[in-house]
Amino acid sequence: MTSPRTIGIGLLGLGTVGQGVWKHLSEKQNDLASRLGVNLDLRRAAVRNLRKARSVKIPKNKITLDPYEVIDDPKVHVVCELIGGTTKARELTLRALRLGKVVVSANKALLCEHGPEIFAAVRKHGGQFLFEASVAGGVPIIKALREGLVANRFDLIVGILNGTCNHILTRMGEDGLSFADALKEAQALGYAEANPTLDVEGIDAFHKASILAWLAHGKWAPRQRALVEGIRNIGPADIDFARRFGLALKHLAVIRRDFNAGWMTVGVYPALVPNREILARVSGVNNGITLRGDVVGATTLAGRGAGGDATASAVIGDIVDAIAALTSGARQGLSSDDLASRERLGKSVRMGDLDEIISPFYLRLSLLDKAGVSEGIYRIFSKYKVSIARVIQYEHPNQGRGTVTLSTYPVSEAKMAKVLKGLKSLKTVLEEPVVLRIFSPET
Ligand code: HSE
Repeated sequence: MTSPRTIGIGLLGLGTVGQGVWKHLSEKQNDLASRLGVNLDLRRAAVRNLRKARSVKIPKNKITLDPYEVIDDPKVHVVCELIGGTTKARELTLRALRLGKVVVSANKALLCEHGPEIFAAVRKHGGQFLFEASVAGGVPIIKALREGLVANRFDLIVGILNGTCNHILTRMGEDGLSFADALKEAQALGYAEANPTLDVEGIDAFHKASILAWLAHGKWAPRQRALVEGIRNIGPADIDFARRFGLALKHLAVIRRDFNAGWMTVGVYPALVPNREILARVSGVNNGITLRGDVVGATTLAGRGAGGDATASAVIGDIVDAIAALTSGARQGLSSDDLASRERLGKSVRMGDLDEIISPFYLRLSLLDKAGVSEGIYRIFSKYKVSIARVIQYEHPNQGRGTVTLSTYPVSEAKMAKVLKGLKSLKTVLEEPVVLRIFSPET
């Protein structure tokens, strides 16, 4: 009997995710090896700082400052890129792919910004690029889209894709925490990006949404053609409005596709989601994605979307898939045929006009507290024939101003922009209005 093949695994980066991968892979090593019929060799991890305190114990001879000691090691077959960022990560990923290796990545920014170049390297050199961990942490959404739901075309994909935002909104809404305290907590729990601006300004969610849009529709959405908004402006009055009217405040990614007209739109923004939607009940660090397929109908996947353990679960899933492919000769990841068919598909898709998207809106206005002010506000809505559905007014005694929150019936983005312009031109409107969309799967 021949002895089983040994597969070497190397890590680039030992941050929150890297440590999670090392820990769980070491613990499950024997089990996974016997399941796969191979020996697993967790060979080495490259780090930036040898002295940094880490929660996992790793022998000194397995840690290096030189990432090329991992990538160029002929006994490393699977390279896990867990350093984040797009400069060094791109260089290292391409180097490993040029050597025909498997790269397992959690790096959504890299994939979103350099996807075509990465997949060109995969096609040219015969390696693999697996990226389950790049979207929705431990939720196997990439595999579901590519495999389990392959029979479908999706006219709507809507998801909560950023665990940090969902944690912040949940803690503000349910426990009354301030934005700053909730963000600090998300950072301490290892959910936030090294630069949390990426989370709270919606950029991380946009990266993930564009990966899903590309997988589903074959087209990379340019950022300037997408709607990208974060959660910095959310305040107690918005949370109060949501609570009173059976809505939940969520940071959503919405990918719409019209197969007849040939367009797709990508938007990430804070939205009010009716409590009857499953996503309204996805709270804390959890992510959730509802996919509306023409065959399966609406299917929702949910689970922990950030943090070392959840992300490690996705990375290890990819490592196992990669090893199964390496040992059986079958292809995992996106094959050349798969990539070519996505490219063809993408050619028939154009970015849709965001102005035409219709939804009910929510507005928060800070107004001068004076007789007749409301009339001026209503006149603007009436001028553009935008119908108001609900209103709440709050007084702020002795401050000379009040707050009004209101919702509208469904209206186009273009029309709402006109209403906003009109409102902002009023001297009685004291601050930049806060505008949120109210999610409705029907519009
Ligand atoms: N910062 C990301 C989040 C990590 O909060 O969702 C997972 O990609």
